[in-house]
Amino acid sequence: MGVMNDAAFLRCIRPACAATYDLGAPIYECEKCGNLLDVAYDWNRLQPPRSLRFFQQRWATRDRAIDHSGIWRFRELLPFAAPEELVTVREGQTLLQPVEVEPLGIPLKPGRLHLQYEGMNPSGSFKDNGMAAAFTMARKLGSRRVGCASTGNTSASMALYAAKTRLADGRLMQAIVFIGEGKIAYGKLAQALDYGALTLQIAGDFDACMKRIREATDRLGLYLMNSVNPFRLEGQKTIMYRVLEGLGWEPPDWIFVPGGNLGNSSAFGKAYIELKELGLVERVPRICVVNAAGANTLWDLYNRRGLRWNHGDWNKPTAEAKYAEMDAAGQKAKTIASAIEIARPVNLSKELRTLDAMNGIVVQVTDEEILEEKALIGKYGYGCEPASAASLAGLRQCLAQGIVDRDARVVCILTGHALKDPDATVRYHTGLEPPSGQTVRRDPWGRHANRPIRVPDDLDAICRVIEEHRD
Ligand code: F0G
Repeated sequence: MGVMNDAAFLRCIRPACAATYDLGAPIYECEKCGNLLDVAYDWNRLQPPRSLRFFQQRWATRDRAIDHSGIWRFRELLPFAAPEELVTVREGQTLLQPVEVEPLGIPLKPGRLHLQYEGMNPSGSFKDNGMAAAFTMARKLGSRRVGCASTGNTSASMALYAAKTRLADGRLMQAIVFIGEGKIAYGKLAQALDYGALTLQIAGDFDACMKRIREATDRLGLYLMNSVNPFRLEGQKTIMYRVLEGLGWEPPDWIFVPGGNLGNSSAFGKAYIELKELGLVERVPRICVVNAAGANTLWDLYNRRGLRWNHGDWNKPTAEAKYAEMDAAGQKAKTIASAIEIARPVNLSKELRTLDAMNGIVVQVTDEEILEEKALIGKYGYGCEPASAASLAGLRQCLAQGIVDRDARVVCILTGHALKDPDATVRYHTGLEPPSGQTVRRDPWGRHANRPIRVPDDLDAICRVIEEHRD
């Protein structure tokens, strides 16, 4: 296959197994013990930088696409492909934004809160970080067809990269997308359709789509682009590098991130495990993974059932018992934050490793908290989609409970763009009930609702309304 760079390989995440596989093996689970796989590196045979400041030189050579890319300018920390093999659309130009805490009513000290806005990526979500890496591998493997199940953002991102990635023979890739019926925000569906993905609407939810795409990719030999693909997570590690860069290479105290399929937070853990191992950071931040209350599998397994990483010997039957209970009760994930409406997160075990390495916690937030927080984030000029706002809602909860200190330096990851789900936003502001998800109580409007005002087509009436609403 011509892939081989034997200082990088696949390795079972369970230390007691640690079976290794060729980098190009199109497998997603250990053939010996069934656990997930990492992309692993023999750092002694590579040249990792001695300091993170090394990466600052890349700003001077931004005319070169791979030095401009927010993923590949950190390529020495994900060295599984040669520079000429890297796929990029110059993704990852995202910003760590300092936030005024007072208007948001967040009781942190001024200057201590930052929002990492991943909505600035080419397809409008953090997924582009992972796709740049996974498409690099897909192209190395010569895979023409790529597939994913998605709550919307993965499919939008994959469709964009497929529309831009040519194989050696000059042909573009084909994107094949599985989405659940009625489970996708229109902004995201619009992208998959516009970018020309073959879009299959499966009569089921995300978890059903995930099961089917795994079967279909196996049968048809498609390359699977969900976050169970370990190359996705390599790309998503770079979100943490950019956060560090934004903070002058000093780790924050806390990272807050929404959890769905648990790929993103798992990637953050891997990033810090490696940075620590390489001596590039002295301290690892704590992580708080935020579940929607209607899709709280991780919260339940971690906090109620005590599931832990346990050096890799995590107790799989605990998770299986939970899934069996959900099936018996006909219980499905249900939340207004459709991006994270997932009951069976594929990266559960990697997440447990992250929670262990980052001294992590898991909280859950209601749909009402998510919508109110989203409106506040928008009101002060940032903006994000509902799932992203879960991060700030989680922070508010942790501050109220004294889990996070008001001195702490906190980064919340805003995972997706405000325009991804305009329907949820307009419904919130106009007082319409959400089409699905938990019932959101509002009395009569959301606390931050900004309702449009109907006026006759008459200048006097128009001016009167404007004057009445001086602020
Ligand atoms: N935020 C947004 C906007 C997302 O789209 C997702 C996941 C998450 C958070 C959760 O990240 O899965 O890595 O824990 N969206 C996936 C999708 C599942 O299909 O687009 P995660």
